[in-house]
Amino acid sequence: MRTILVTGGAGFIGSNFIHHLLQKYDYRVVNLDKLTYAGNLDNLRDIQDDPRYRFVHGNICDSQLVGRVMAEVDAVVHFAAESHVDRSIVDPGAFIQTDVYGTFVLLEAARQRGVERFLHVSTDEVYGQSLPGQRFTEDDPFRPRSPYAASKAGGELQCRAFIETYGLPIVIARPANNIGPRQYPEKAVPLFITNALDDQPLPVYGQGLQVRDRLYVEDHCEALDLLLHWGELGEAYNISADNERPNIEVAETILELLEKPKSLIRFVEDRPGHDQRYSMDSAKMRALGWSPRHDFTAAIEKTVAWYRENRWWWEKVKSGQYQEYYQRMYGRRLAEAKPYEG
Ligand code: NAD
Ligand code: DAU
Repeated sequence: MRTILVTGGAGFIGSNFIHHLLQKYDYRVVNLDKLTYAGNLDNLRDIQDDPRYRFVHGNICDSQLVGRVMAEVDAVVHFAAESHVDRSIVDPGAFIQTDVYGTFVLLEAARQRGVERFLHVSTDEVYGQSLPGQRFTEDDPFRPRSPYAASKAGGELQCRAFIETYGLPIVIARPANNIGPRQYPEKAVPLFITNALDDQPLPVYGQGLQVRDRLYVEDHCEALDLLLHWGELGEAYNISADNERPNIEVAETILELLEKPKSLIRFVEDRPGHDQRYSMDSAKMRALGWSPRHDFTAAIEKTVAWYRENRWWWEKVKSGQYQEYYQRMYGRRLAEAKPYEG
């Protein structure tokens, strides 16, 4: 039986991926997670007693711990990161630490161990924003624009160095904007849904005209599964769903699905350096036999249904320190917001 190290497995995509792996394969999974504000063991509570699953509470920057964990695994899927753009604007240091240095610590331990494969989860944000008509392919240059995106680019460049210098068997994924169950409600979609369920305002940045490609998390997990097993070593793969939508349309759709009034929408002060659009060509990924099963409508409907049915999950998450975060990020902005005029 193979043993896979998943880093950041208590977060949104990592926990969905662990569920996917344990459902489909007879693998052992070791989940190394620091349990930052975004890490949540509730995300894994249905599999916590599975004998094939082991949780290790720790930091990917801790080289001694990482060395010990690496000694028992055959392959690595690396999700652990500080992942929220707005937090990176307020406090970029934590992003450099985890997303760049932490990635280096993992790569070095993987090299010492001689792992079979290292799947690095990067992001479409490394390319920077797409200009009108522009769709990035894997050979396009990196032009990251936020501290988060620059940190992810830094982590990915470490991977590139380990491929070229040491021949480490790395495959790189560059996924689009995921939505689905168990996403921390700092990200736009779960924030809009949970606010709407509580009849609270939906803070849409600027005029809501920025565009994101919404990839359903299960589709993403299927793509990562393919890359873990069949991705060509040393290669990077765009994972996009062709579900590009402006944020205002996403907010309106959520309100329609929940039968809530559009007057809940508020246009608030924009994110500094806000990337207008991300758009990627995923022909290389699709040539491996992958295609997303969810169009935008199916993805958003399933996502809204999950939050409607799992109030216990997000009410717990939105208590305590989340309230301080929300007040800090949105208090003044909402007080100065412009109303929606349809
Ligand atoms: P998330 O914020 O929900 O989860 C991150 C997890 O990493 C948490 O469980 C956290 O506790 C853990 N973590 C953070 N720092 C750590 C450290 N130093 N040591 C160990 N664990 C640590 O993130 P997510 O949305 O699930 O994203 C997962 C990965 O996918 C990230 O690398 C992110 O950059 C990338 N990505 C995310 C999206 C998206 O739309 N969410 C899209 C493209 C790429
Ligand atoms: O594209 C991949 C990236 O997607 C990942 O690498 C990141 O980890 C992930 O956080 C996500 O980044 P975004 O910045 O696109 O996601 P976010 O949910 O923060 O914002 C989505 C869009 O919604 C963006 O245009 C900003 C806007 N927005 C966001 C928030 C939090 C709002 O209008 N209001 C909000 O309150």
